[in-house]
Amino acid sequence: MRKATAVACPNIALIKYWGNRDDALRLPANGSISMTLGGLRTATTVEWGGWPRHRVTVDGRVPEGAARERVGAHLERLRRFAGLRSRARVVSRNTFPASSGLASSASGFAALTAAALWAAGKRPTRRALSTLARLGSGSASRSVFGGFVEWLPGAAHGDSYAFPLAPPEWWDLVDLSVIVSQREKAVSSERGHRLASTSELHRARVEGTRRSLAEVRGAILRRDIRLLGKWAEHDALAMHAVMLTSSPPLLYWEPETVLLWREVARWREESIPVYMTLDAGPNPHLLVPREWAERVEERVRLAVGEVEIFSSGPGPGVAPSPDHLF
Ligand code: DP6
Repeated sequence: MRKATAVACPNIALIKYWGNRDDALRLPANGSISMTLGGLRTATTVEWGGWPRHRVTVDGRVPEGAARERVGAHLERLRRFAGLRSRARVVSRNTFPASSGLASSASGFAALTAAALWAAGKRPTRRALSTLARLGSGSASRSVFGGFVEWLPGAAHGDSYAFPLAPPEWWDLVDLSVIVSQREKAVSSERGHRLASTSELHRARVEGTRRSLAEVRGAILRRDIRLLGKWAEHDALAMHAVMLTSSPPLLYWEPETVLLWREVARWREESIPVYMTLDAGPNPHLLVPREWAERVEERVRLAVGEVEIFSSGPGPGVAPSPDHLF
């Protein structure tokens, strides 16, 4: 039987991936560090067979346009890597709504890469899975691993992969993803990465990540939320400064994004250890130790009203599942 199912979680970057040295190979301009988000999951089943073309559904729908091409190109890559002549049938499901603005490309391409190779009877190393998943979506290289993860920029395809810094049980840090806008982002990350080098701030940020990566590594090893938060906030702002000064400029923030940024700083003055980061979108991610998570969630609702909030501790890396989706 040439069928396998893989489950993967998305991740939140603490030091961001923004801009590539090589867009086709997704070799990033700088290394990045993330936490895998255990509260959110993508399950993907792949079967190889003698069909004339690949067939894919994500949450019950056939992807269209750029998404369809991207998945198709990745399946072709995986097919060649596995040395198969057959085509794939793929069914993928997210436990979080696609409209939630949460990035599903990281968990999606991590699960697709693993399921496709396992279904082909291959037993790739985690490093090989991470390297291959990266070609589908950069951040997917990190979702291959659980807990706290670093992705090395590398100089060539074979040495740009992620590895674990600390396992999920190391630190019960919580990410509260606050959905302030469900609108699909106007500019995809893929396009955004290409614009990064048009900003004169890009080079300065990339050089600055040498320090911020070292600080965040140390903060994780010491479970120091203050140090982690300080540098995660700094890098999120640096990335958004690059976005704002790109040509054309990218402004992802909504009024609630600014409001929460200010509130979080104010809550810290009351000694609540909470910090904020943002990806290529308006939805705040609040980083907070587990014992403070409930109180912070209440405050978020008081500040911005009834919004959807996804709460995640550190989650596992990509894993096989016996529960096939077809
Ligand atoms: C802002 O991994 O989504 O979330 O490689 O084009 O799929 P592609 O980009 P993607 O970029 C993530 C950008 C980010 C920061 C991060 O996750 O590191």
